[in-house]
Amino acid sequence: MAFAGAATASVSACRALYFMDEEEAAPYIAGKSGMIVRSSRFLDLEMPREYVTSFITPLEHFFVRNHMHEPSTLDRAGWRLRVGGEVEKPLSLSLADLDQLQSHTIVNTLECAGNGRASIEPHVPGIQWQVGAVGTARFSGVRLADLLTRAGVKPAGQHVMFRGLDEVPGKVPPFIRSIPIEKARHPDTLVATHMNGVRLFKHHGFPARALIPGWVGAASCKWLAEVKVLDRPFEGNFMNPGYRLPNGSIRPGDSLTLENSHSLTTLAVKSLIVTPREAAKLRPGILQVRGVAWAGEADITGVDVSMDSGATWQPARLSRDRAPYAWRFWKHSLNLRRPGSYTIISRARDSQGRVQPASVSWNPGGYLNNVTPQVTIHVEA
Ligand code: MTE
Repeated sequence: MAFAGAATASVSACRALYFMDEEEAAPYIAGKSGMIVRSSRFLDLEMPREYVTSFITPLEHFFVRNHMHEPSTLDRAGWRLRVGGEVEKPLSLSLADLDQLQSHTIVNTLECAGNGRASIEPHVPGIQWQVGAVGTARFSGVRLADLLTRAGVKPAGQHVMFRGLDEVPGKVPPFIRSIPIEKARHPDTLVATHMNGVRLFKHHGFPARALIPGWVGAASCKWLAEVKVLDRPFEGNFMNPGYRLPNGSIRPGDSLTLENSHSLTTLAVKSLIVTPREAAKLRPGILQVRGVAWAGEADITGVDVSMDSGATWQPARLSRDRAPYAWRFWKHSLNLRRPGSYTIISRARDSQGRVQPASVSWNPGGYLNNVTPQVTIHVEA
C-alpha cells in the first residue's frame, strides 16, 4: 500500500524526488533506501551487494536505470497506451482498460546490460556499475500478446517498438527500442502495471512498462506510451550503436556497425558472491559462502566454488526458491582450518550448457560482463 501511495504522489512530485538531506549529507530518494547513487542528473541507483538477501528484491532496494529525466507529469486519468503500426485495428487503452484485462505474473531477474562495467579493462565510458544493477521482482500485468492479438498484427509485422514518456534533454536521442515479434508474442512478455504486488513505482515506469523476461533491462521500456508494430527493427541510437555486441573480437577505437555486431537480447550466465566480503578477516573454522546466480532465459543448473584458482571446483547447494527467468541463491561451506589468505571463485552453469567464463572479450559498451567473481579473505589465528 505504501508504494501504491508513493507512485501516485510521485506523479506530480517530479524531479524534486532527488535532493540532498543536508543534515545527514546522505541522498534522500523517495521510495528508496541505502542505494549507491551512480548518477543524479538522470537517476541511476545501484543496490549495494549486502541487500542481496531475498529471492524477491524489496522495491526500496531495487536498482534504477534512467537514460534521461523521468516524466515530470504523468496524468493517470489522461494516460493512454497506443498500439499501432502494422496492425489492423489500432488501440488506445487507459490504465482502467489495462486493469480490466486478465493479469499474469512473471518473476524476473532484471539486470542492466552494463552491470559490472566498472571492472572492464580498458575502461569504457558509461555508468560505472559494480555488481548491483540487478534485482528480482514479481511483475504483473497484461500479456503483450493479448494486446497484439486484439490489434491484429498484419503479416508485415516483424518487430515491436516501445516508446516511453522520458523527458529528452537537448539533443539526446529518445530512448526507443524494438524487439522481434516472436519475443513480443511470447506469453511471458508483459505490459506490466505492478511490481511486487503494488502499482509500479514511478522510478520503475508507472503507469506501465514492458517486461521482456530474461533479456537485458534495456528491452523493458518504462513509462510506456506507445507500442508500434514495425516491418523491421527500429533504427535509432539505442539500437545502433547502443546495446550491441561485436560478433568477434574488437579493439578499443574500432567502431561497431550493423554488419560486425548484433543487438543484445538475453542475459548471460552469471554468479555473484554476496558473502564473505572482499578482504574480510575471519577466524579459522567453517565459512559459509553465499551468493546468487542467474542466466536470463535459461535456468541455473549449478554453481561451483573453487579455492585453488580454478584448478578444482566443488558444487554449491542451490536454494529451493526458483522460477523461470529468476536468480537462484546458493551456498557452500568451506572448512578454513589454517590461517592465511584464501581466494574464493564462483562459477555458474545453465540449462543451455553455458558456463560462466574466467575472462570475457572487451566490447565498447562494457556490456554483459559475466567474468567469474572472486573474493580474497584472510583467516587469522
Ligand atoms: N525505459 C525508458 N523509457 N527509459 C530508460 O531510460 N532504461 C532501461 C529500461 N527501460 C530505460 C527504460 C534500462 S537500460 C534498464 S536496465 C531498465 O529500464 C531498468 O529498469 P529499472 O529502472 O526499473 O530497474
